[in-house]
Amino acid sequence: MVQLIKGINLYLVGMMGAGKSTVGRVLARELGYRFFDTDDLIAQIAGKSITEIFAEAGEDGFRDLETQVLSQLCPYKNLVVATGGGIVLRQKNWSYLHHGIVVWLDVPLDVLQARLQGDGTRPLLQDPDPWGKLRSLLDQRLHLYAQADVKIKVSAEATPEHLAQQVLTAIPQVLKPATDHI
Ligand code: S3P
Repeated sequence: MVQLIKGINLYLVGMMGAGKSTVGRVLARELGYRFFDTDDLIAQIAGKSITEIFAEAGEDGFRDLETQVLSQLCPYKNLVVATGGGIVLRQKNWSYLHHGIVVWLDVPLDVLQARLQGDGTRPLLQDPDPWGKLRSLLDQRLHLYAQADVKIKVSAEATPEHLAQQVLTAIPQVLKPATDHI
């Protein structure tokens, strides 16, 4: 697999609470890749938490930083990148994501809800009706996540190791059309 994938980056997309960072770390270990989380990089660059960035610069300001960070990661090889749940919203981001293989961790709403219970770190969920908000975000984004190259259906019981294996198993199918033409 390590030879087959030839350093192509993996970008994990999906809703907040989908497990992108946890599964991404396992994937990076398996592939001998470096792991990055766009939210962590944004917070480092800004010297502020994601919550502070949203409060001071608004969602648009946060999205600008997100695009900037993604564009700076994209020229490198051998990366697994866990992205923020809203990275799929800007069309420009797809021009970067499509340099690599985009993997969607598709997690049912009830599982997301259970995982995000009591979470105070996601500004978009600081809402009088957080679960209604989560549902509407998922509804708005489903067709965008569906543009991923690989879709992994995630159950409540699935371990990060098992999910990483599923991703690795799916990758040859994605690479096949490209190699067929050589
Ligand atoms: C967001 C998801 C968060 C973070 C920000 C916005 C979103 O990342 O980027 O709070 O729009 O869904 P995670 O998906 O890592 O929680």
